[in-house]
Amino acid sequence: AVERTLSIIKPDATRRNLTGKINQKFEDAGLRIVAQKRIHLSPAQAGKFYEVHKDRPFYGELVEFMASEPVVVQVLEGENAIAKNREVMGATNPANADAGTIRKEFALSVGENSVHGSDAAETAKEEIAFFFSGLELVG
Ligand code: CMP
Repeated sequence: AVERTLSIIKPDATRRNLTGKINQKFEDAGLRIVAQKRIHLSPAQAGKFYEVHKDRPFYGELVEFMASEPVVVQVLEGENAIAKNREVMGATNPANADAGTIRKEFALSVGENSVHGSDAAETAKEEIAFFFSGLELVG
């Protein structure tokens, strides 16, 4: 089925001017960018987005990193977009990511791992609504 998923190009990647190269990977995989904006998250906003991880030992570091510099938030649309995006991203830890994936090619570490992607249909819906209004989605 055609799905939508929420993607974030993280500060380690925007800082290194990798937005275009990362978007190329999405488009080459058949994912259409139907919404996109560059924003600088406040620590409170980053903390809210990652609230599900609040009891993890890396939560503070994760929130600080995501609010450190601008990110590009986007909605990707395509056949099986949620799983396809996770394939294109590669494993969370770049050390475990397959060749050709975004994280293998660009990520610096498990924390500075260049991209975020929704992990399931329900979270995709919530995460898209966190950043975008219906009017901003141009399918
Ligand atoms: P993401 O898909 O954005 O979802 C949660 C993030 O937490 C994950 O990518 C990683 O960047 C980050 N993360 C996971 N494990 C660790 C860790 N051990 N140390 C720091 N950050 C982590």
